Amino acid sequence: MSLLRAFIAVDIPSKIQQAIHEAASSLRGEVGALVRWVPPENIHLTLKFLGDVSPAHVEQLAQMLRAEVDSCPAFDIHICGLGSFPNSKRARVLYIGIQAPAALEALYLGIESSSRKLGYESDANGERGFSPHLTIGRVNQKITAVEVQRIRRALEAAKIDSLGSARVDSVQLYKSELKPGGSVYTKLFSAKLMSC
Ligand code: 2AM
Repeated sequence: MSLLRAFIAVDIPSKIQQAIHEAASSLRGEVGALVRWVPPENIHLTLKFLGDVSPAHVEQLAQMLRAEVDSCPAFDIHICGLGSFPNSKRARVLYIGIQAPAALEALYLGIESSSRKLGYESDANGERGFSPHLTIGRVNQKITAVEVQRIRRALEAAKIDSLGSARVDSVQLYKSELKPGGSVYTKLFSAKLMSC
């Protein structure tokens, strides 16, 4: 059986995905061609990138997720601000920020630790610490120094304030397929947090 590429994420309501898309429209106008933009319906909050997963392990991952979220009450996150990784001088990833209660980091840490026990290595997030974000675009690798400066200026000029709040009441396991037209995500499993 061939391996699948998988990750664990929190879905973002379509109203907020759309608000993000609209808030980033002037930025797209400024530096559109230099960035691969995430389609609004694909914007999500990644908790853990698993990488290659055997289809036979999907049930084990589903059980792990169920156990992790079982005792976690649902909570709200706040979506606001524009940022870039690793920094605004040489942006590679453009994102919208997340303000969250400690429950989100606790959920992330539980999933990170349980995934490691199942044999999934820490990803870049795991090594650098958790910084929750919604990726909206990835800067093309082959751009000139002048284009790097254009992105820097566009990021400094862009203003994205509050885009609303979202309830985190479930966590999803996704399959990701890299297709010529972009990533295609398929939900494999959804685990519900405790409702208050
Ligand atoms: P991101 O939101 O931080 O960009 C699905 O591909 C998700 O998994 C992406 O949205 C990305 O999260 C994350 N991801 C993809 N490839 C990754 C990698 N090699 N290491 C860590 N995270 C990755």
